[in-house]
Amino acid sequence: MQKIVLFFMAIALLCASCQSEKKENSNINIGTKKEKLSPYDLGEKIFNGKGKCYTCHKIDKKSIGPGVIEIMKIYKDQNKDLISFLKQEADPIVDPETFTVMKTNFAIIKTFTEEELKAVEVYMTEVKTNKSE
Ligand code: HEC
Repeated sequence: MQKIVLFFMAIALLCASCQSEKKENSNINIGTKKEKLSPYDLGEKIFNGKGKCYTCHKIDKKSIGPGVIEIMKIYKDQNKDLISFLKQEADPIVDPETFTVMKTNFAIIKTFTEEELKAVEVYMTEVKTNKSE
């Protein structure tokens, strides 16, 4: 009789341990699952992350480079295309004198996909409207 009890206890233990293992696995899956970010969130992530834009561009004030709001205002006023500039197809219009500083970052920007460039544009545009409201 005791043997049977032990047997069931052993099974119960095994189940418990395999369940916790499963849990861990599914946690790991959630962590690596590629979530679909909105263009704004993706843009923000790139701007502050791998694009390193934020090291030189603050949102509402000038630092090493002009502030994002100022850049976007000039782009809007002159009806220019931000993505063309990022693709190095259009000349700088904001502060051409310090363009050499911005130029150092094109090595990174060149690695962006079309979707990422668009996302950065969305972020830079909307961050402005968020702030001014
Ligand atoms: C090393 C510092 C630095 C980094 C990093 C940097 N920038 Fe700049 N950026 C500048 C400077 C300085 C200017 C002003 C010169 C100019 O107008 O081109 C500028 C200008 C710009 C302009 C205006 C261009 C124009 O028409 O004059 C845009 C748009 C821009 N940056 C976007 C970005 C984005 C997007 C990133 C990240 C992917 C980035 N920058 C990263 C320094 C930087």
